Amino acid sequence: MAYRTIEAQPIAGALGAEISGVDLTRPLSNAETADVRQALRDHKVIFFRDQELTPEDHLRASGVFGTIFRVPFVQSRDGYPDIIDIVKEPADAGKFNFGGAWHTDASFEEAPPLGSALYALETPPYGGDTLWTNMEAAYAALSDGMRAMLAGLRAVHSAQRYYGVGGHFNSDDKKSVSMTINPSEAGDERVVHPVVRTHPETGAKSLYVNPVYTICFEDMTEEESAPLLGFLFEHAIRPEFQCRFNWTPRTLAVWDNRATMHFAINDYDGHRRHMNRVTIAGDKPR
Ligand code: SIN
Repeated sequence: MAYRTIEAQPIAGALGAEISGVDLTRPLSNAETADVRQALRDHKVIFFRDQELTPEDHLRASGVFGTIFRVPFVQSRDGYPDIIDIVKEPADAGKFNFGGAWHTDASFEEAPPLGSALYALETPPYGGDTLWTNMEAAYAALSDGMRAMLAGLRAVHSAQRYYGVGGHFNSDDKKSVSMTINPSEAGDERVVHPVVRTHPETGAKSLYVNPVYTICFEDMTEEESAPLLGFLFEHAIRPEFQCRFNWTPRTLAVWDNRATMHFAINDYDGHRRHMNRVTIAGDKPR
């Protein structure tokens, strides 16, 4: 795809591109704004390396894609309520890793985020990569019969398994030494979304279920839902739908939560990884 102000170098066949030619330490021109938004539509996750961003720059660059969404349950960075500090310390080895399961951010919300903008402050000497998978490609690869069956289905989403009272982050052996996560009853609330959503900007259809927050199909039990959900989760992460990104400090990644899932790989025990995330507000899936 041709852009007027930037260049985009794809990193995989399915999704993901490194963007060059733009300096995120200053406000973008209208032409640059249009180009980076188009690049996000085209590639679903875009990477800007070598950007020396202050928290204010990070917030402004995220604002190019929409208004800011304040993340529940996870304590924000001191003085910046719209930035979450994602840290894994050497002492977290073997027990804590934020984002280490396939998910799309906050699908437990009525209006889940449009996207997220993750900035690398400190990266381990090896590992700590993030995977993304293209949920439009996953949907397109299903049979006509499966697509027809999914068309009428809706699924229940909740934060309960992670941020609910009995959730993952309420267990002492999963607590981070430096990130404060506050599970609560609010984590047990449920919302319902279509299993196939239509992208509000491109009209493309994608699968919208994920193993972290999707509990069951509407009006079915978890047991009844598990076989088909399990198939969809496995199908969605076929290697050819994925990209993998190796972080370097001062890289900003921006992804489209409406058409992707992601996974933070936990393979660097004993080392520190420190990221900041700003989350971008979205609308109700349709
Ligand atoms: C996240 O799930 O937002 C964090 C991803 C990462 O740290 O790579």
